[in-house]
Amino acid sequence: MLRIGMLTSGGDCQALNAAMRGVVKGICSKRDDVEIYGFQEGYKGLIYSNFKMLTSRDFSGILTVGGTILGTSRQPFKLMRVPDENGLDKVEAMKHTYHKLNLNCLVILGGNGTHKTANMLREEGLNIITLPKTIDNDLWGTDMTFGFQSAVDIATDTIDKIHTTATSHSRVFIVEVMGHKVGWVTLHAGIAGGADIVLLPEIPYDIDVVVDAINKRKAAGKRFTIIAVAEGAISKQDAKLSKKELKAKKEKNKYPSVAYELAERIQKKTDQEVRITVPGHTQRGGSPCPYDRVLSTRLGAAAAEAILDGDYGCMVGLKNDKIIRVPLGEVAGKLKYVDPKSDFIKEARLTGISFGDQ
Ligand code: F6P
Repeated sequence: MLRIGMLTSGGDCQALNAAMRGVVKGICSKRDDVEIYGFQEGYKGLIYSNFKMLTSRDFSGILTVGGTILGTSRQPFKLMRVPDENGLDKVEAMKHTYHKLNLNCLVILGGNGTHKTANMLREEGLNIITLPKTIDNDLWGTDMTFGFQSAVDIATDTIDKIHTTATSHSRVFIVEVMGHKVGWVTLHAGIAGGADIVLLPEIPYDIDVVVDAINKRKAAGKRFTIIAVAEGAISKQDAKLSKKELKAKKEKNKYPSVAYELAERIQKKTDQEVRITVPGHTQRGGSPCPYDRVLSTRLGAAAAEAILDGDYGCMVGLKNDKIIRVPLGEVAGKLKYVDPKSDFIKEARLTGISFGDQ
């Protein structure tokens, strides 16, 4: 008997169901003595032994369905070693659930925080296989995460729609795109949507440079400017602050998010009206795009292969269009940032995009 536990953890994204379907189809095509334990709401389900027994039928018809049939929750890594309100040792509880059910392995679908805990569980002796999910595409060790392309499509669609209304009005439009630490979604959607200014966490901006880019467009007879700004975009001034100082500043901040602060600063320095659009969690919603369906199915099937090989302790990722197994110890705790010096950024600059820095 092959007993597989499965959980989805952290923020959801498109193609989580498609990836789990890929795993189950892959395993069930080779073995018929399989038991699947679906843990509810991520690590919470593993801690509190909250699970559903699933069969391959539960994974039929979910390729195109967004969200996750298992539910998810954020369980911060830094709190994993802190006992819960009843004094329960969470790590011991997760190990207990695993051993009690006599699992052969746990398949964990998640992003950065999830991978830190997954690696800790590996170090604690559990058999772990992970799959890279996040709209942010910031997981180290894989060229692509599933969810990213779907989110880019949605953010691009938002910018496209703003474009038509922008052509009617002489305004500055700010579209705030998800991504606190990294700007991949903003960079891709910004380019795909033809944004004029793209502000990323990796390239601190100078408000005067942003205003200058807006004014230059106006002087050239352009009626509008579209700015794609990542949630975590930061000014050059703020980038000089220590983590503690920045946190204190943000706590005092009256702005609901970065777009509002930016809007006020632009409004003060130009004679143009500014409007804000925040697509927010729509970027994680809906059906996965075909690219993500394909990627997650491939990764899921490859995870099934790793399980059948008994090769644990790795994340199944994508490198140069090849599916690879990356040791979890190499993945956990590292982020894949946009490189400000990359050709990607150079090419974007050549097409006239301003990153607000020069
Ligand atoms: O990590 C994925 C992500 O969508 C980020 O882009 C975003 O900053 C964050 O999650 C939002 O988290 P939550 O859903 O917890 O508000």
